[in-house]
Amino acid sequence: MPPFAPVLMESTRAIGYSLEAAIADLIDNSIAAKAGKVQLFFFPVDDAYVCILDDGFGMDDTQIDRAMQYGSMSPSEVRESSDLGRYGLGLKTASLSQCRVLTVISKQDNCIAGRQWNLDYVAKTGKWSLLILDEDELDSVPHISDLKKQDHGTLVVWQKLDRLMIGELDFEKSFGRKMDAVRSHLELVFHRYLTGEQGIKKLEIDFNGVKINAADPFLLKKSTQAMDTETLIVREKKILVKPYILPHISKLTDAEKEQLGGKEGIRKNQGFYVYRNKRLLIWGTWFRMMRQGDLSKLARIMVDIPNDLDDLWTLDIKKSHAIPPAEVRQNLQVVIDRIADKSKRTWTFRGKKETSDSVEHMWFRLKTPNQGVTYEINRDHPLVEQIVRAFPATKTKVETLLRYIEQNIPLNQLYVDLNNDEKIENDSGVKEADVKSTLEQLLSSMTSKIEKAEFLTQIEHTEPFCFFPEIIKQFMEENSK
Ligand SMILES: Nc1ncnc2c1ncn2[C@@H]1O[C@H](COP(=O)(O)OP(=O)(O)OP(=O)(O)O)[C@@H](O)[C@H]1O
Ligand SMILES: [Mg+2]
Repeated sequence: MPPFAPVLMESTRAIGYSLEAAIADLIDNSIAAKAGKVQLFFFPVDDAYVCILDDGFGMDDTQIDRAMQYGSMSPSEVRESSDLGRYGLGLKTASLSQCRVLTVISKQDNCIAGRQWNLDYVAKTGKWSLLILDEDELDSVPHISDLKKQDHGTLVVWQKLDRLMIGELDFEKSFGRKMDAVRSHLELVFHRYLTGEQGIKKLEIDFNGVKINAADPFLLKKSTQAMDTETLIVREKKILVKPYILPHISKLTDAEKEQLGGKEGIRKNQGFYVYRNKRLLIWGTWFRMMRQGDLSKLARIMVDIPNDLDDLWTLDIKKSHAIPPAEVRQNLQVVIDRIADKSKRTWTFRGKKETSDSVEHMWFRLKTPNQGVTYEINRDHPLVEQIVRAFPATKTKVETLLRYIEQNIPLNQLYVDLNNDEKIENDSGVKEADVKSTLEQLLSSMTSKIEKAEFLTQIEHTEPFCFFPEIIKQFMEENSK
């Protein structure tokens, strides 16, 4: 016996779609139809509606009939790699979770076909009574003229927005607020499509005529990739894992902080960012493999999964939930351990590496098994050496001074400031002009060209001079004249 239409349709309204997840589900369909532009129109007064118009390849009469069916395609069917669908349900369940009347009109090869599910009509007839719209009915649908202007595409219209009106005294106002949340959601989940990352077709999304921006949660232009990309192979399919460390909060502009979700958001949104076919699915979770602590708050790990491992990840109908399979979890745990350690270092002691690299640092971080960690000023730093060499008698005094500085770092206050994301001026870096004049002074005390050349070669790898290779090069050139 086929399912009883009115009951099934009413029940599936409660799958639990949020407004933003429902709209994102429709945009998934537009992307699968190779759309380059999706226009959202929403209108809160009188006969309020939400319209989603795309310029994808559209559907013909037969295809649109199939598309309106519950279970239009089997979940086990193999899909094109760009197809973001899985269950053959989204168009219906996402839409009717928000409204009582769903109209879909599509244009392909100069033919326009329109269908409508009206829950009240289905309840009245007690049957799967899909309405076929005639010319006049088509013409009364909002934004049909925009679809007609295009060569091909699909227009989805939601009317009788009962779910959006529930519990709202001022619908117009609350609708506006909800649409703001939708915009932020779309800017985030489709950010790779909005920027037109290599290998995917760029997508423009307009909100009542205004183009939305991409919200990159990794701040790729500024962040550091903490480790090389790891490729995990599961059932012969590739899963890519790219860990990033965000810049310290004091280095972010207000706009960047906002983009990352503000102070609280930065902490809350640490963790994995799982993309299914480059569309963000889940984010800000460690899948219970690690605690969301302060020390890992700058770590974000991009995980790219293909669309043919959905069963392994137990993807849900709303595409807002998935769990990594055991074999992936094991590998992710290794990445987590390494990244958490790195993020901790960025957080507690930014930028200055431990002693094992080739740079001559200003500070050392020494770790002893029993006594914990010591921060020491590098006695071999050329500036320290030069002072002692120029004034041998001051050697003990210099040593005492350095030791006192080391012993009197205002650690507690620093900890509090860092935790409060205070901008710490000491860390804004040495200025170019300052480096230049310091070098001039130092070089003026040397007499031979050889001595100067040796000194310049040495400081090429010495903090803070090594951050200004151009200046060193200039001095070297002058010296060799
Ligand atoms: N905007 C669109 N342009 C062209 N075809 C569409 C569009 N929206 C839906 N379709 C067609 O309708 C079908 C049903 O869409 P629906 O969202 O219900 O299921 P799905 O995308 O296949 O799977 P899922 O339930 O996972 O979203 C799609 O497979 C596609 O063939
Ligand atoms: Mg779909």
